[in-house]
Amino acid sequence: MVAMEGAVGAWAWWLGLLFGAVPLLCLALWHSTDTWHCAAFALRYRGRGSNGIRQRLPPGHMGVPFLGETLSLLWYFKLARRPDDFIGAKKSAYGSAAGMYRTHLFGSPSIIACSPAANKFVLQSAECFGIKYPVPELIGTMSVANKNGASHARLRGFILAAINRPSSLQTITTVVQPHVVAALRDWADKGTIVAAKEIKKVTFANICKMFISMEPSPLTDKIDMWFGKLLDGLRAFPFDIPGTASHTARKCRRKLDAVFREELQARKTYKDCDDLMSGLMQMKDEQGKKLSDEEVVHNIVSLVIAGYESTTIAIMWAVYHLAKSPVVLAKLREENVAMSKSKGGSTLTGLMITHDDIPKMKYTAKVVEETIRMANIAPMVHRVANKDVEYRGYTIPKGWAVLVWLRSVHTDPNYYQDPLSFNPDRWDEPAKPGTYQVFGGGPRICAGNMLARLQVTIILHHLCVGYQWELINPDAQINYLPHPRPVDGAAMTFRKLST
Ligand code: HEM
Repeated sequence: MVAMEGAVGAWAWWLGLLFGAVPLLCLALWHSTDTWHCAAFALRYRGRGSNGIRQRLPPGHMGVPFLGETLSLLWYFKLARRPDDFIGAKKSAYGSAAGMYRTHLFGSPSIIACSPAANKFVLQSAECFGIKYPVPELIGTMSVANKNGASHARLRGFILAAINRPSSLQTITTVVQPHVVAALRDWADKGTIVAAKEIKKVTFANICKMFISMEPSPLTDKIDMWFGKLLDGLRAFPFDIPGTASHTARKCRRKLDAVFREELQARKTYKDCDDLMSGLMQMKDEQGKKLSDEEVVHNIVSLVIAGYESTTIAIMWAVYHLAKSPVVLAKLREENVAMSKSKGGSTLTGLMITHDDIPKMKYTAKVVEETIRMANIAPMVHRVANKDVEYRGYTIPKGWAVLVWLRSVHTDPNYYQDPLSFNPDRWDEPAKPGTYQVFGGGPRICAGNMLARLQVTIILHHLCVGYQWELINPDAQINYLPHPRPVDGAAMTFRKLST
């Protein structure tokens, strides 16, 4: 009897622990990070800021200790494959508020901005929100992407002049097309391709040609490999310990700098090239000052980081959506074949287009815009608050990370009807103000946006005039991290268009 009572008592104790203490402990853990940061914030302002107005953090929750909301982010992006529900869940839980939420992500207390107005506010206020990379040397300490204020504006001026001026785009249009034409012929010979892989190859060949006038060679293969590892390291934890991705990336960065420095020296002695590197070397600012050698090298490497993967993914999504949208492809083909014929080509032999042809390709431009909107290649951009910043009654505390969630604007049915359907005709009307932020905004808006559009346009022209393709797995799942792409890399059959 006594033994039975003892056993019942032990059970009751364990059940009490299971249904009482454990949930309580979990609840305490769940709220501890949020409570900690809110309490620290309240203590700092003691209710009121210097302006006498009550200070509040934006609504939200900072997740579990150490990890914050990282697991929730991974759940929505990786497992559930519903990336927009990460922000959607916040909107349901806390309302749309000021288009800002507090969270804890990537190891920092953070504010997420996710409405057109809030995003614009952060992107435009460069003096309040700066850039700070965990490992600046991976991006290049003298790179435009790493600089703030006046030195940023100066470097940006050089880069825009080098890649965005009509004469550069004109040259680029000419030099990239032979690679594109040869690549498409090669894909058709293969018959079956993984589009992501093949597009990456031709994009890289074009980058080497545009930036440093290099044709594919064992050296460019090595450069490609180093860039791959550098990009892996940029996304990894920033531990400089042998064997880690970050450590390997630092080594690759040094190798890349060395190769580009050597190339730069060669230009000084015997080479005269019409490419981005020579352009950057020769330009002068308003005071007649040129860029230093280190600035040229760091910025060339940065431009490859910014333009390589992004352009590859944009082209891959264009090819993918066109495979699934025969009506769009037919309209695109009609425009491009007409363009080709007007220049003396035929259906199967698209002639090289010139930069002057591009403004005439109106439907193609809509396909390009729609592709880039839907691709959401940069789902968010990172800033850090340089000081306490007030926004619509909320305070963004100094030192907190600010994540400008570009993706949420492009997939919001309030701004784009049926936002997840590929519909280039929606561009018959311009987007509502502030709702097209694929290239960011403000003083850091993508410096290569025209170049990216140009490259997608060129490949679309040659593709649709001469080829047909079908996805092997049209229902393949989509991975959203680190960038959105079908799990099979858009495997497809690819052949010459039969007349
Ligand atoms: C579809 C392709 C592309 C997309 C979606 C894209 C997107 C972006 C975004 C969102 C930013 C803003 C980053 C921020 O605010 O922190 C950015 C910046 C930048 N992008 Fe792009 N980009 C693309 C292609 C390119 C290309 C082809 C180049 C040049 C080769 C390039 C060069 C740059 C540079 C230099 C910056 C930094 C600008 C600055 O800090 O002033 N991008 N890009």
